[in-house]
This record gives sequence, structure tokens and C-alpha cells, in this order.
Amino acid sequence: MQRTLGVGLVGYKFMGKAHSNALRKISMFFDPDVSIMLKAICGRDEQGVKQAAQKFGWESYETSFEKLVKRDDIDIIDITAPSNAHKDLAIAAAESGKHVFCEKPLALNLADAREMLAAVKKAGVKHQIGFNYRFAPAVQLAKQLIDSGKIGQIYHFRGLYLQDWIIDPDFPLVWRLDKSVAGSGSHGDLGAHLIDLARFLVGDFSRVIGMSKTFIKRRPLVEQMTGLSGKAKSDAPMGEVTVDDATLFLTEFECGALGSFEATRFANGHKNGMSFEINGSKGSLKFEFERMNELWYYSADDSEGLRGFRLIQATEPVHPYAGAWWPVGHVIGYEHTFVHELFEFVQSIAKGRPATPDFEDGVKCNQVLEAVERSVEEGAWIRVSDL
Ligand SMILES: NC(=O)c1ccc[n+]([C@@H]2O[C@H](COP(=O)([O-])OP(=O)(O)OC[C@H]3O[C@@H](n4cnc5c(N)ncnc54)[C@H](O)[C@@H]3O)[C@@H](O)[C@H]2O)c1
Repeated sequence: MQRTLGVGLVGYKFMGKAHSNALRKISMFFDPDVSIMLKAICGRDEQGVKQAAQKFGWESYETSFEKLVKRDDIDIIDITAPSNAHKDLAIAAAESGKHVFCEKPLALNLADAREMLAAVKKAGVKHQIGFNYRFAPAVQLAKQLIDSGKIGQIYHFRGLYLQDWIIDPDFPLVWRLDKSVAGSGSHGDLGAHLIDLARFLVGDFSRVIGMSKTFIKRRPLVEQMTGLSGKAKSDAPMGEVTVDDATLFLTEFECGALGSFEATRFANGHKNGMSFEINGSKGSLKFEFERMNELWYYSADDSEGLRGFRLIQATEPVHPYAGAWWPVGHVIGYEHTFVHELFEFVQSIAKGRPATPDFEDGVKCNQVLEAVERSVEEGAWIRVSDL
């Protein structure tokens, strides 16, 4: 009989829904070597978590995390609570011998991220972080092209992550604008994804220099919030925004390539405009998340007169993950990246192989985030390995 893995999920809003959906789909489209059981979803508000359990298809719910991690029918703890809760939840889960999947950024700061990594290593459990954009087939194809030498020596990585959801000064003070809950603003939320993609595709960062700005410093206190939305009463008192609205930085990678990064929530008109471009000695690659099935590829080896960027639709069975879904050209979307990352996590447990990206990748991302923050404070280049 096939081995069963019981999952306990913490959080039931934006990411809680994305992970619940993904966990339910894995066995429908892929062939994992285990049966995945959605055992319990956990939240602090009994009414809310009970409703989520029913709607998302969980067998039961818990309002106490302590109870959740002690349950014998649970093998994996999946954390989709805000960033300030990640550390205690992940360490408690590891100490109870559970495998841990945790949303990004791993922790509020580098010291906490390192404690989390030490805890999962000591417990000998599998660990993975939710850098889901790695799992778009077109991004995986980019990685294959780079690894096979088609791009040659990489000279440039140019990353943009542009949103505009808080550009209205009356938008309320949601948890993402509070440093004690989020760690940082656009930097740790959006920049973290770019940093991870750059590490995945180009390699580790050597040194960084950055600049950062909070355009709107006070906002009405929030009454209700989920994911990227929030409501405030018309007469709500004001509170202080304690994170960056935009952070830009430059880097030199260990391989010698140069990188530029821009993460902002003030790019009017852009909703989830994550994109990157890579230029190498033999070719270039361009990816835009809002057209996530496509990868632009330029090969300098093409014959003279025919050179130009070609648009590849990464929906053919040869493209990573694409064959598990629909016929060629029947495109996939945002939610599929979560199916792919969680499929890989359960397979790492089933097959006893390392999960990736893991908490080590989470720590390295927190290290770059913090190096940029230090550079903003000091107005100087910071060597990442000094942190
Ligand atoms: N991978 C991605 O692209 C992506 C996208 C969005 C959010 N995230 C990350 O996911 C996490 C959650 O973000 P979200 O958008 O789902 O937030 P959200 O506000 O929509 O939901 C957070 C959930 O956590 C619960 N919660 C809050 N504090 C808690 C605590 N102390 N203990 C237990 N539960 C708690 C809330 O009740 C809610 O159910 C964050 O770390 C965020 O950075 C990742």
C-alpha cells in the first residue's frame, strides 16, 4: 500500500487558499509516490478556520498550533502565516519531528532565519521555502538553457517587481506595512522573489548597494485584511508605516555578472509585474510573470540575417511540468506554480532526497535582504558574506 503523508496547514487566507488548492491538485495531475491527506488546517479564529476547512476540503481544523504539531496523523507542517510567525511555528514543527514547508521570506531577519535552519537540520526533517516562481515551466526552461551553456557567460541580470496596490495614500496600514510583522516592505515581499530567482539562475551575490524609500509615511489603521486587500473605517486613526515602499539595489555576483533590482509597490498600472532579463556571451533570456507561459530567447548562434528574440511558449511536454497539464498551447497560471513546488516537496520526503529551494536558500535570501538594508543605512557597498 502507498505511504500516506498527512498535512497540517497554518493560515487560511491568500496563501492558505493557494496551498490548499495545490495540495488537492497534486495527485490529480502528477503521480506522487505517496498519498497526500489534508488532515487539518489551523487558525486562531474558530469560525473562520472552520469555514475554511469546509470550503478548502480539510478533514478537520485546529485553533491551537501546539495541538496541531502534536498530532500523530500529521507529517508535514505547511506555514502560510505572516512572516513574524514563521520562526516559532517552524522551530516547534521541527522539534516535533514534522517536515516543514514555509512561505517566504523565511524570517523577519537573518538571525531568525539561521535559527530556523539550525532547527530543521538538528531535527533531520525535510524543509522547503515557498519561492514558487522558480516553478513556472518557462523559468525552469531558462534554467535548463543556462545550465546547458546556451547563454554562455552571464554578464547581466536585470530584475523588476512592480506593483501598485498601496499607491492610494488612503489604503490602510495592513500587516505588510508593519516591520514587526513583515520584516520589510517591497524589499522582503517582492525583492525576495527576485533575489531567489537571481540566485537560482545566476548564482550567489558578492556585494550590494541599495536605496530605499517610504513615500507615504502615515496611513489609516486597518479594520479588515486579507492578502493584498484591506479596509479601514472613514474615521480611522492614523498609524506609522514602518517599511519601505520601494527598494532598488545593484549587485555584483560571485561569477562576475552585474545585477540590478527594483521592487516597488508604487509603479502605477503594474499589478504583479515581475520580470527579469539575462544577457550572456551566447544569448539572452527575458521573462515576464504576467505572461508566464512564455520565454524570450535570443541566440547569437543563429545565422546572420535571422537573428532576433524568439518567443517560446513553454507548454510542450518537453518543458518542465507542462506535460502533466493540458495539451500544447493550453496555458497554465499562477496557482500551478504552487502545485509544482508542493509536488516536489512531497516527492523529496517520499524519495528521501533533499528538497529545493530549502531553508538554506531562505537564509541566503535573508542575508542579501539584510546586506541591502545595511547598505541603505550606511550608504556604502556591503559584502554579503560579511553578514
Ligand atoms: N509565494 C508567494 O508568492 C507569496 C504570496 C503572498 C504571500 N506570501 C507569504 O505568505 C505569508 C502569508 O501571506 P498571505 O498573503 O497569505 O497573508 P494573509 O493575511 O492573506 O493570511 C495570513 C493568515 O495567517 C493567519 N495568521 C496571522 N498571524 C498568525 C499567527 N501568529 N499564527 C497563526 N496564524 C496567523 C491569518 O489569520 C491568516 O489566515 C507571508 O509570509 C507572505 O510573505 C507569499
